[in-house]
Amino acid sequence: MSNSQVTDSSPPIALITGANTGIGRYTALGLVERGYRVYLACRSEAKTQTVVDEILKLHPKALVQWLPLDLSSFSSVEDCAKLFLQHHAHLDLLINNAGVGGEKGLTVEGFEMAFGVNHMGHFLLTHLLIQALLKVKTPKVVTVASNAHRFAWGIDWSKLRQETKSILGAKDYAVSKLANILFSSQLSKNHRHQGLATYSVHPGVIQSDFWRHLPSTLMPLVKWGPLISPKQGALTSLYCSLDAPHSETGFFYANSRIKKPTVFARNESLAAELWERSREWIQKG
Ligand SMILES: NC(=O)c1ccc[n+]([C@@H]2O[C@H](COP(=O)([O-])OP(=O)(O)OC[C@H]3O[C@@H](n4cnc5c(N)ncnc54)[C@H](OP(=O)(O)O)[C@@H]3O)[C@@H](O)[C@H]2O)c1
Repeated sequence: MSNSQVTDSSPPIALITGANTGIGRYTALGLVERGYRVYLACRSEAKTQTVVDEILKLHPKALVQWLPLDLSSFSSVEDCAKLFLQHHAHLDLLINNAGVGGEKGLTVEGFEMAFGVNHMGHFLLTHLLIQALLKVKTPKVVTVASNAHRFAWGIDWSKLRQETKSILGAKDYAVSKLANILFSSQLSKNHRHQGLATYSVHPGVIQSDFWRHLPSTLMPLVKWGPLISPKQGALTSLYCSLDAPHSETGFFYANSRIKKPTVFARNESLAAELWERSREWIQKG
């Protein structure tokens, strides 16, 4: 990573998680095409370098780099934020894109995998980068949620620190995506007076690596369904990142339009409680 000095002509800086494949890969490309310097925060250097090389082939002058990040470990999230902050005092755009569904097990700190990676990892990353975001005039945080939140009728706090007992982990994934929307709206509430705009996104149902944990017997169903391409799946994230008005902060988007999420996702006291609990968890681990 090279040191950079901010000048008026410096490109805006974006950090996107999970950009080595799927929606994130095309979102990163779209940001480069709109003049952003882009950090791809991902687990695998080899997989991310393939995407970096692809982008550089199309745009040889692009400023695009890998940042190591494993969202299932608080220390990895802390190292990622630290490395970024060693080189940049400000951040224009954070895209919390990475996500898992149907993966068994617990994160290093003992959270159910979907909740731990999709919500807790991003909660901590955003917390560590918030001061850098608040240094710019019009910072944005885009969080990739899902319409799957519609299958979560609240949050059972007692289940967040145990491995999923179901085969597909669908309910746990739904809860993690409900948490993404609640997090995005509470983040807006906490920082809109400082100029921060936040958006949560349903990207569509996409033919990506996302389905890798699905039992192979169910794969034909996925392939048969009306799935869209990862490039199309990146469109709403790109719209929120680049074109959505700042005044529309805190909303949920699908097809590049504001959509009403469920009554649970609009529950302000649930959002505040999730925020408080998450804040305590990142302090205690
Ligand atoms: N696909 C869909 O139909 C769909 C629908 C609604 C919402 N979404 C959401 O869209 C987002 C992107 O999904 P996608 O379809 O592009 O899926 P994908 O192709 O599976 O990409 C997911 C990305 O997340 C990364 N990731 C997973 N676990 C991680 C961890 N512990 N630390 C850091 N990165 C991690 C993956 O990295 P590795 O390659 O290293 O695993 C990959 O880069 C997710 O938040 C997902 O929930 C997807």
